[in-house]
Amino acid sequence: MSAARLTGTKYGCGSGGCGACTVMLSRYDPLSARVLHCSANACLLPVVSLHGAAVVTVEGIGSTKTKLHPVQERIAKAHGSQCGFCTPGMVMSMYTLLRNQPQPSLEDIREALTGNLCRCTGYRPIVDGFKTFCGGPSTLCNGSSDVSQTSLFHMNGVLPLDPSQDLIFPPELMGGGGRLCFQGNRVKWFSPADLSDLLELRAAHPNAPLVVGNTNVGPNMMFKGDVHPLIISPGSVMELHTVSWGKKGVTFGSACSLSEVKEELQGAVGRLDPEESRVFQALLNTLRCLAGKQIRNMATVGGNILSADPKYDLSCILAAADCTLQLVSKGGTREVPLNEKFFAGFGRTHLRADEVLLSLHIPRSQPWEFVSAFRQAQRREFAFSIVNAGMKVVFKEGTDTVQSLSIFYGGMGPTLLRVKRTCEGLVGMSWNEGLLEEACRLLAEEVALPPTAHGGKTEFRSILSLSFFFKFYMQVVQELREKGVGVADLPLEYLSALKPFKNEVPQGHQTFQMVSEIQSSKDPVGRPRVHIAAFQQATGEAKYYDDLPAVSGELFVFMVTSTRAHAKIISMDFSEALRVPGAVTFLSARDVPGQNRRLWFNNTEELFAEEEVCCVGQIIGAVVAESREQAKRAAERVRVTYDDLSPVFFTIEEAIQHQSFFNPKRKLERGNVDEAFGKVDRILEGEMYMGGQEHFYMETQGLIAVPRGEDGEMDLYVATQHAAFTQEVVGHTLGVDSNKITCHVKRLGGGFGGKVMKIASLSAIAATAAYKTGRAVRCVLDRGDDMLITSGRHPFLGKYKVGFMNDGTILAADITYYSNGGSTLDESSFIMEKALLHMDNGYKIPNLRGHGLVCKTHLPSYTAFRGFGGPQGLTIIESILHEVAAECGLPAEEVRAVNMYSEEESYTHHRQPFCPRDMVRCWDECLEKSDYSSRRLAVQHFNATNRWRKRGICAVPLKFGIGFSKGFYNQGAALVNIYKDGSVLVSHGGTEMGQGINTKAVQIASRILGVPMSSIHIKETCTGNVPNAAPSAASFGTDAVGMAVKDACEKLMKRLEPVMKAYPKWTWSQWIVEAYCQKISLSATGFFMGPHTSVDWEKSEGAAYYYFTFGACCSEVEIDCLTGDHKNIRTDIVMDVGKSLNPALDVGQVEGGFVQGLGLYTIEELQFSPDGALRTRGPNQYKIPALCDIPPQLNVHLLADSQNPNAIYSSKGIGEPPVFFGCTLFFAIKEAIAAARRESGLNGRFALSSPATVEKIRMACVDRFTEMVPCPEPGSFTPWAINV
Ligand SMILES: Cc1cc2nc3c(=O)[nH]c(=O)nc-3n(C[C@H](O)[C@H](O)[C@H](O)COP(=O)(O)OP(=O)(O)OC[C@H]3O[C@@H](n4cnc5c(N)ncnc54)[C@H](O)[C@@H]3O)c2cc1C
Ligand code: FES
Ligand code: FES
Repeated sequence: MSAARLTGTKYGCGSGGCGACTVMLSRYDPLSARVLHCSANACLLPVVSLHGAAVVTVEGIGSTKTKLHPVQERIAKAHGSQCGFCTPGMVMSMYTLLRNQPQPSLEDIREALTGNLCRCTGYRPIVDGFKTFCGGPSTLCNGSSDVSQTSLFHMNGVLPLDPSQDLIFPPELMGGGGRLCFQGNRVKWFSPADLSDLLELRAAHPNAPLVVGNTNVGPNMMFKGDVHPLIISPGSVMELHTVSWGKKGVTFGSACSLSEVKEELQGAVGRLDPEESRVFQALLNTLRCLAGKQIRNMATVGGNILSADPKYDLSCILAAADCTLQLVSKGGTREVPLNEKFFAGFGRTHLRADEVLLSLHIPRSQPWEFVSAFRQAQRREFAFSIVNAGMKVVFKEGTDTVQSLSIFYGGMGPTLLRVKRTCEGLVGMSWNEGLLEEACRLLAEEVALPPTAHGGKTEFRSILSLSFFFKFYMQVVQELREKGVGVADLPLEYLSALKPFKNEVPQGHQTFQMVSEIQSSKDPVGRPRVHIAAFQQATGEAKYYDDLPAVSGELFVFMVTSTRAHAKIISMDFSEALRVPGAVTFLSARDVPGQNRRLWFNNTEELFAEEEVCCVGQIIGAVVAESREQAKRAAERVRVTYDDLSPVFFTIEEAIQHQSFFNPKRKLERGNVDEAFGKVDRILEGEMYMGGQEHFYMETQGLIAVPRGEDGEMDLYVATQHAAFTQEVVGHTLGVDSNKITCHVKRLGGGFGGKVMKIASLSAIAATAAYKTGRAVRCVLDRGDDMLITSGRHPFLGKYKVGFMNDGTILAADITYYSNGGSTLDESSFIMEKALLHMDNGYKIPNLRGHGLVCKTHLPSYTAFRGFGGPQGLTIIESILHEVAAECGLPAEEVRAVNMYSEEESYTHHRQPFCPRDMVRCWDECLEKSDYSSRRLAVQHFNATNRWRKRGICAVPLKFGIGFSKGFYNQGAALVNIYKDGSVLVSHGGTEMGQGINTKAVQIASRILGVPMSSIHIKETCTGNVPNAAPSAASFGTDAVGMAVKDACEKLMKRLEPVMKAYPKWTWSQWIVEAYCQKISLSATGFFMGPHTSVDWEKSEGAAYYYFTFGACCSEVEIDCLTGDHKNIRTDIVMDVGKSLNPALDVGQVEGGFVQGLGLYTIEELQFSPDGALRTRGPNQYKIPALCDIPPQLNVHLLADSQNPNAIYSSKGIGEPPVFFGCTLFFAIKEAIAAARRESGLNGRFALSSPATVEKIRMACVDRFTEMVPCPEPGSFTPWAINV
């Protein structure tokens, strides 16, 4: 598509895991004589597989130049597009749904979006925009009662959906064809004409894979280096697509997509007697959460089975249900049962090399046969299962005596596991507690995994296997009773365990303050204006760095990274690499014309490692080639020899043992902590670990470096949050002054702090390549490399001692924070400082001491991430509050309230004065709006009446410092030009990454200049227009930029004043022309000198922040004690953003930040191998929140009547604070686990580290099943993954 200059379709991962590349695929189906439309991931679609298909991309449905499609218009108007990188994919998923279903239900919309990730919005506004289609093609129905004129958006005058305007399917694509053969440079692709042709080809090329959906073969070629010189694609062979129903069951052609199977089974389940359709129902339950919609549309049932991957979900249930496979070859057909014997190992089956899977037969269930399927993944939808299972029991008619039992597990080894001994041992037994006991005993032996097993989580996986059986046992008890068999009833409190969590569409209220009635209707400040680039983003017209067309002669650079954690580089042999066609040159430290280092606050970091590497993923060289693929291929051929060095360690605990810390070590202290410990009723000691987090911005890092060929000038089109720093580093690297280097930043597809530092190094390397070759060089990190090289949020360990009174009042706390900084300092010490500066949160702990140590380990260097240490600092203190409350036997909210700052003139622990009034208001309103007291009682009632499901509720307050504690960063600059036609061009030093800084800047300029927003434009951030700008970070971007834009506009207005006074009736354009004729300068710079914040660390005092943003959040969750799954039920947030400049953008930041926190505290888990290599390198291993994770009720209230005299128009910075609110889910989960543990007689404290993953939740819910699985002695084995 880039060759066709269609850049609207985005590339976020290349593995089907993000949905950014979603397109609509249409094909004529001769069997039904219909054109079928489905959404698909373009990244997994080989172009040659599209013969006969029509592909519609986001550009094909509407544009700002012609007419928007209603889907594009509504997602934009509903504020569903922030950075916009996911937006075209969202649009295409919804568009496809509407092509198939012009009047979709909420469930249709939910399902359509299961395969689309968004890292910015929190999904609610996207869904709100799309809900307006629910009423039908021409009516507009608001999905929630909140979507009204006074809400954040309205749909007045929007385009109605008019299906008659849709593109028609090109009739020329309706014809069939004979055998097709495509020959590429490296691959030959055959598409056989019919079945016999397929069998011919199969016999002639037994090693060639059959590619249908390409969802297994494609990713393996891309990421595992599988090479297939010849591929057979049987997608057009009709026999592989047929579906036929017979008396005994249904037969699906092997190339039926999972969506087709799902649809067919859905129809059957509605039609057939439930007794006949138990297998179909079980399969349906699995298919509902298997992958995302786009994958299900492409992936085939045959491919799923023949991939022979035990993480795939279908084989277990199909095997348990006694399904059979029809295999065909030139020699004839044979039928084989689908069971463990069909699988030969991971990725291997006993299919003969000349055979093809023709079809799969699924039998109807019999009256005394009960079937179920189970799966548990890290995220409930769009995630590979950790363990899956299929179970079937057959009873002697009319009895509860087991006649036969078959149980299969996936994810418990390299291939399908049949627990034969267990099944055989239970035959003849009655279905009762005795059988359950015996089953668990046998199962525990049969599913035991060695602690070193591939994939790790071994104890959890074994326990899950038992839990699944227990669920099956209970289900069957229920069903037997329904059939009148006299088995003992289940206790009532067990029943909720049988209902799967329902994935729902998020609904929510958002309240905000309307602007005053006297404000001019032309003044946009304070109004929920749409992001100014939302329509361009929704149509795919918005350009990101990688959308820029190739500059003539452009090359591509690919990084070569270390595979060792600590080693001397002995040699680098790149001769093989340079032999790859297209390879141009190899770069290493000695090619750097200036300095091979990135300098930041006296910390230096090598661009290319010269002698020694100190982490896996460190850049040691780079290959430059004519194309991306060639550069990648060549980089893989660089041979590096190392000499390993010691010590090598990765974890915080190991760093403490080695006393390996960066300087400076920080301390903050208020009062006399040691003395206070002598005066308290109780003392408690503990620790809390918080894992790191990957930024997972949807657009990976990169840039284009274009040498201008004169005077050393170089232009960089770069995704950076800190253009001035990138400029400076590139200048140092090239040995060129900054005035020759220009950075252009149009927009970022998300940044979240991750595009401040590392991008400067990448830019310097690309610039070096451009310098060396004299040609433009593009660098685009693959998702896996981005995750490996650029790292993310610091893991933290807080060790604490706290002294408190029996009423929960904390008198003393002594906390030592350890962060894992990785191998270089980067921003780690400032991040640690921010953690210490937030360690009091909203609590007046009179004697408080914090030490902060940044551990130096052999991991890629951790860096800034939204919140910048704040969430970690805050979480430790919240953990302490939680523990104190539990210890005192008091409700946590009471203990929080009793410790909260309350005096009008309060002082933080670093002696910064502040008024906590608005924080307390947020807290009170949050408790009230969330109906906290009665819901807490309801939670208690729920927990008392449910054994295997538990709920928890938690509320926290928040005080979050805004601005840089390094005072000199608190500045902003802007340049405002007015052109003769009256149009206005604003430039500023901030970068637009979805947060809406440009929109707010335009709103401000519009207010002061009195011109409509449509006359004001922001082209890009450019170091040539606004020099020396601070990074867009610390929630301070809008404060700084807004003030600077205001300053520039006010200067201009002052100059225009005489003209305006002289001609009061003239229009703006006339004034401007007159001013021009009077030689009045129509260009002004604006500057904002922010506060001089600083901290004296020796004295433990200083005004670290400009002001504080306050808030409070309450969340309720429910956990499944048997599987560790959890469901976020409801979240209420009250946020003080002062007088919001734009409530829609601010609510967007609150929701988006909260959802990023949701990921941080519950599902996002990074895994490292014991050798320090990151294992989680893409969306298939690392799960960020998807639509299914959003609480069905997510309410955001912006605090009314709040002022902030410090910042622009009394607003407040909001980007970072809400991330911390994700901890409410964590503590609510912890509360729910505590309730579960009490059922097992465990009343004491217990440790739970963040994130509260399914594994940790299940393991903490100690019960009879967890006791059956032996716990391996830590240290006695090498685990699959380590906690760093
Ligand atoms: C992002 C993502 C998420 C996913 N999530 C899940 C999940 O949650 N659960 C799950 O179960 N699966 C999941 N999958 C896996 C997906 O279901 C399988 O990859 C898919 O079903 C394979 O079908 P395909 O047509 O794409 O196979 P292809 O990739 O085209 O082929 C796969 C293999 O099957 C062989 N093959 C295919 N058809 C035939 C035939 N007729 N005869 C002989 N050999 C044949 C091929 O030779 C090849 O070896 C996911 C995949 C992706 C990319
Ligand atoms: S780029 Fe295709 S799914 Fe991510
Ligand atoms: S708007 Fe969805 S990823 Fe940025």
